[in-house]
Amino acid sequence: EIHQREYLCNGEMKPWNGKVQEVYSPVCIRTENGLQRKLIGTYPVCTEKEAFEALDTAVAAYDNGRGQWPTMSVADRIKCIEKFIGKMREQKDIVVKLIMWEIGKSYSDSVKEFDRTVEYIYATIDALKDIDRDSSRFTIEQGIAAQIRRSPLGVVLCMGPFNYPLNETFTTLIPAIIMGNTLLFKPPKHGTLLHYPLLKAFQECFPKGVVNTIYGRGNVIVPGLMQSGKINVLTLIGSSKVANELKKLHPKVNRLRAILGLDAKNAAIITSNADVKLAVQETVLGSLSFNGQRCTALKIVFVHRSIADDFVKQLSAEVNKLKYGMPWEAGVALTPLPEPNKPAYLKECIDDAVANGAKVMNENGGATVESFVYPAVLYPVNNKMKLYREEQFGPLIPVIPFDHVEETIEYLIESTHGQQVSIFSNNDKELASLIDPLVNQVSRVNINCQCQRGPDVFPFTGRKDSAEGTLSVVDALRSFSIRSLVAAKLTESNKQ
Ligand code: G3H
Repeated sequence: EIHQREYLCNGEMKPWNGKVQEVYSPVCIRTENGLQRKLIGTYPVCTEKEAFEALDTAVAAYDNGRGQWPTMSVADRIKCIEKFIGKMREQKDIVVKLIMWEIGKSYSDSVKEFDRTVEYIYATIDALKDIDRDSSRFTIEQGIAAQIRRSPLGVVLCMGPFNYPLNETFTTLIPAIIMGNTLLFKPPKHGTLLHYPLLKAFQECFPKGVVNTIYGRGNVIVPGLMQSGKINVLTLIGSSKVANELKKLHPKVNRLRAILGLDAKNAAIITSNADVKLAVQETVLGSLSFNGQRCTALKIVFVHRSIADDFVKQLSAEVNKLKYGMPWEAGVALTPLPEPNKPAYLKECIDDAVANGAKVMNENGGATVESFVYPAVLYPVNNKMKLYREEQFGPLIPVIPFDHVEETIEYLIESTHGQQVSIFSNNDKELASLIDPLVNQVSRVNINCQCQRGPDVFPFTGRKDSAEGTLSVVDALRSFSIRSLVAAKLTESNKQ
C-alpha cells in the first residue's frame, strides 16, 4: 500500500495532514462479504487553498515570462529533462506495478506504457533540438532579417486520463514544460498513486515552482483555478463535457489555449470486398485492447449485410478465445475495470440493445463478476439503441449490418465525434473512392487495420467534439508555444 502524505509545490514536498482519498484497486480480494476491491493506498484531498497556493507558485515561477525557467536556454532545459528521464527510469518497477494495480492494465501493456513514454520524451528532446537549430537561423525577406522562434505561453493546467495515466499525461506535460511554461498538474482520479514515485524526480530536476501537483476532487478545486483567469493553457485528455464547462469558466476565454483529447466513437467499416479473417482480428484488437478503454478504440462496427453473419460468427469465436485474468497473469487479454460504476453502465447498454432487438452473440457476453465484465458482441445493432451513439468505453462490440456504404458516411456526418475510422476492403478502386469522403469526416482513416494513436510522431487530433489542437512529438511542442519573431532591417553596415 502507498499512503501519500505529501504534495509538490514551490519545489518542496509539502506534508499533508488533511483529508485523504482511499484508493481501491479494480483487482478484488475475497472477504467475508464476498469479492471486494482491494485497498492499495491513499492520497491527499487538497482544498482550494492548496490549489491556489500551487497556482500562485506557477504564476510566480513564470513571472510574466521573466522567470528563471522561461528565460533558460533550450540546451539547459533539455539537460533538466534528461536528468529527469534518468530518475524516472529508476522508478520503472514501482510505476509499472502501480499502473497494474491502480487501473488493472496487464503487465505487458503497463511496461509498454512506461517504455513508450520514455521514448516519447527522448523524441521530444530531438524535435526540440531541431526547432532550436531552425530558430537560430536567419530568414531574409525584402531587406529584413528575421529569426523565427518559439516562446512559452505561461501557466499550464494539465489533467490526464485514467486509461493512459502516465503516457497520455506525459505527452502533454513534458512538451508543456520543455517549452518553458510552468505547470499545475492534476493526476487522474484512477491513476494518482503511480505518479507519486516521480514527484521527487520533478523536485530534483526542475527549478522550484515549475511543476506543482494538485490532488483531490476536480469539481471542487479546478473551477476556481479557471475562474482566476491565470491559467494560460488548459490541457485535458477526457470528456468534452468537462472540457467545455471548464473553458467557459475562464474570464477571457479568447486568451485561453486549449489542447484537448476528448470523446470518440471510432467506426470500422467492413465492405463486401473485405478479408473477413483480417477484419475480425483487427476488430478484436481495436475494440478490446485494454478492455476497450481507449479513446482510439473501435466503438461501432458496420459490416456489409452480405458478409455480416459470417463476420459476427468468426468475431464471436475469436472473442470466446480471449484470456480473462489478473493484470500480472501471462497472456491475459482482458482485465478488471477501474471505474466502479462502469459494470452497471455496460449492463444498461446491453439490456437496452437486447430490448431493442439485438442478441449477445458470444459465450458469457456481458457477464459481470464485481469489476470484471466479459466482452459482448451485440448484433444486429440499430439506431434506437444507446450503443449506436454513446461511447461505451468498455468491452462491448456493437455490430450493424449495412446495404450501401453511404449509410456509414451518413452516420459519420451526423456524429458529434470525428477522431478515426477503419475501412476494410481488398478492392483498391473501392478504397480509393472512400478515402476522400472519409478523411473529410475524421482525422485519421486506417486502411485494413484498427484505429490507434501511434506511431507517436504522427499527428493525433480529431474533428468536432473529439479534440482541440493537435498532439504528436512535434505538434505538441508547437501547441505549447507561440511563434515569435526577432526582425532587423538590413543596413549597409550589418549586411555582412
Ligand atoms: O486513449 C487514447 C490513447 O491515446 C490511445 O492510444 O491508440 O496507442 O492505444 P493507442
